[in-house]
Amino acid sequence: MQITIGTQPFATTETEALVTYVFENGDPVQGRISEMDQLTSGLLKRLAKSGELTGKTLEMTLIHAPAGLKAARLLLVGAGKREKFDAAALRKISGSALRYLKSRGVHNLVFAVREGNATEDSAQAVAEGSIAADFESDKYKTDKKNDKSIDSILLAGFSESERAAGERGLARGRVIGESQNFARDLINEPSNKLTPKILAEKAEAMAKLAGLAVEILDEKKIADLKMGALLSVAQGGPEPPRMIVITYAPANPKPGAPVLGLVGKAVTFDTGGISIKPSEGMEKMKYDMAGGATMIGVMRALAALKPNVKVICVVPSTENMPGGKAQKPGDIQTAMSGKTIEVLNTDAEGRLILADGVHYAKQLGATHLVDAATLTGAIVVALASINVGVFGGADQAWTDKVLASAKAAGEKMWQMPMDDEYREYIKGTVADIQNIGSGKGGGSITGAWFIREFAGDTPWVHLDIAGTAWNDDAKSWLAKGPTGVALRTLVHLAMSY
Ligand code: BES
Ligand code: ZN
Ligand code: ZN
Repeated sequence: MQITIGTQPFATTETEALVTYVFENGDPVQGRISEMDQLTSGLLKRLAKSGELTGKTLEMTLIHAPAGLKAARLLLVGAGKREKFDAAALRKISGSALRYLKSRGVHNLVFAVREGNATEDSAQAVAEGSIAADFESDKYKTDKKNDKSIDSILLAGFSESERAAGERGLARGRVIGESQNFARDLINEPSNKLTPKILAEKAEAMAKLAGLAVEILDEKKIADLKMGALLSVAQGGPEPPRMIVITYAPANPKPGAPVLGLVGKAVTFDTGGISIKPSEGMEKMKYDMAGGATMIGVMRALAALKPNVKVICVVPSTENMPGGKAQKPGDIQTAMSGKTIEVLNTDAEGRLILADGVHYAKQLGATHLVDAATLTGAIVVALASINVGVFGGADQAWTDKVLASAKAAGEKMWQMPMDDEYREYIKGTVADIQNIGSGKGGGSITGAWFIREFAGDTPWVHLDIAGTAWNDDAKSWLAKGPTGVALRTLVHLAMSY
């Protein structure tokens, strides 16, 4: 899909569909919409009067063959209240418009930003929103209708002097949108098509293409390094584990500068192990590698955007299977750090592999950590599919920095409590630490505390994306399936150095 900036007047632009958006405040026919209304001899005012055009959030008003315009269709998308309008709204508007028109067989469209919106940020939002909206989960369908595609978007409403800013925004938005879709593609793969070995191969291929340093640790290297927590999960099935390490280094690294460590859980299928999950809905556990895929996608974006900070991405990957050699409840394992773990529930495997991932990232030089993981069902209970659960260590400034990036990137995240009292719940009776809480409730917090034990004093933030990494229902701006959540936040975080 091609996206370019156009500076020609939209009224005289020939296109299959001209798209813009309408605010809800008072009369929706204002500013640029007024100009369109005049060109169409008062058609828009009549629609507003009849109540068909209100500007309510994501309301779609499609007008065929609008007299006075050169476009075959005019699509007006509701933008809600003007004072609430932001880049996140624009992302949804452009995404919803794309999916709406694609399903109606449109191939090329002009998206006109409103007066005052011809900025770098807006162009980035339209690119991100459109590219993410274009993603479909139909890779394995043999009868897909190839004729339904959007081939080009002309981003209009920019003047010649605004063009350069628009193009910068488009370029950045394209990298981020495509990297998000790259991650979503990985997340979508079923476990027979994406084993830890295949994930590592795909990550390695991406890294090499992007010019990033990459090292894949195989099961032998993992054993040599005594990554006992990762190995304990992997021993339950025949697929060998992998530890994926991708590094981005800026052109002029300063000695003593912070090093960002991104650690992602990549369980390519989580049966629960011996603490086996119920069969209903188990198929969804192919997305238990979303945290790892997201981190790999972030690295893809950073290779192109070139932030001014070193970033080390560490992705432990394994299946969680209940084979004859599987670990059993009560087994005691020794993590790479030397800490002993009593595995009371083999289904709490994400924190086990993250223990070694976080420790290894620190050993490689990470000074600031963020991990992302589909860690707990409890976070779905707490925050549903709306907010990512955010858990921080003692360094609240670091958590605030991650939260500020989430806000700027338009991803909803909510900080959860991490009082010391919760730590008591995972104190071990026979080993140093146990992998589930002994108290009742707070399952997401005890999970976070377990990982924190391995982060130690290093500033660390944990993102529980179990509720947000998968859309159970399609949204008008995003297909059902993997979302690629947290990618935009983490790209923004790296770019903020
Ligand atoms: N992968 C699951 C968490 C999950 C649940 C992800 C629902 C996506 C949707 C994780 O490994 C798990 O099974 N966690 C257990 C922890 C429990 C045993 C303490 C859970 O949430 O039930
Ligand atoms: Zn599990
Ligand atoms: Zn899991």
